Amino acid sequence: MKVLMLNGSPHENGCTYTALNEIAKTLSENGIESEIFWMGREEIKDCVACGGCAIAKNNRCVFNGDAVNTFLEKAEKADGFVFGSPVYYAHASGRVLSLLDRVFYSGSRVFRRKPCAVIASARRAGTTCAIDDLMKYPTISEMIVVSSQYWNMVHGAVPEQVLQDEEGLQTMRVLARNMAWLMKSLECAEKSGIEAPEREKRIFTNFIR
Ligand SMILES: Cc1cc2nc3c(=O)[nH]c(=O)nc-3n(C[C@H](O)[C@H](O)[C@H](O)COP(=O)(O)O)c2cc1C
Repeated sequence: MKVLMLNGSPHENGCTYTALNEIAKTLSENGIESEIFWMGREEIKDCVACGGCAIAKNNRCVFNGDAVNTFLEKAEKADGFVFGSPVYYAHASGRVLSLLDRVFYSGSRVFRRKPCAVIASARRAGTTCAIDDLMKYPTISEMIVVSSQYWNMVHGAVPEQVLQDEEGLQTMRVLARNMAWLMKSLECAEKSGIEAPEREKRIFTNFIR
């Protein structure tokens, strides 16, 4: 079983990475493989609502050439997820939101009923707002949210400061253990023949009829 983690920072080995790495280490100790996917510093296109993905129905954005479809390819093979972002102006980074808008608009089926956690890294403030931003994706996609003993945040302007944030790192470890436990429980449930709930035909009312 594998957890795919998104490092949404422009810093490959920065504060967000340091938090995700604490999760990776703890997952490994609990027998779960993981990969930290760095979205890099290249331009990320916004969703332009072209609807091409809804026609193609292939779990891919029609726009290639940035991290979106690479992430979706990896996501298809993953059993659990952690989305991590630095806090920019008290919200999740715009680049992360652009990436996740396109990932989920074109490929939300890939994530259905898989465990997911989100984490935020900040120097000082805006973490809970950023976590709220990131939580919007799993909670509209039938994902199973994994939590910890505190909201999933670390504090620091540089990785060395995050390493001093003992409570933040402990929050990451508790999160990882809960994720590992849930993934093993789901695997056990599947092997025992407990089937996923039936899906209803989707209703869209748009509040006007
Ligand atoms: C454009 C920008 C805006 C930021 N806004 C905030 C903020 O609102 N609150 C905060 O605490 N830190 C803010 N920071 C600092 C980063 O969130 C913080 O240092 C984070 O841990 C960096 O993570 P990284 O090393 O993974 O990029 C901002 C940084 C940048 C570049």
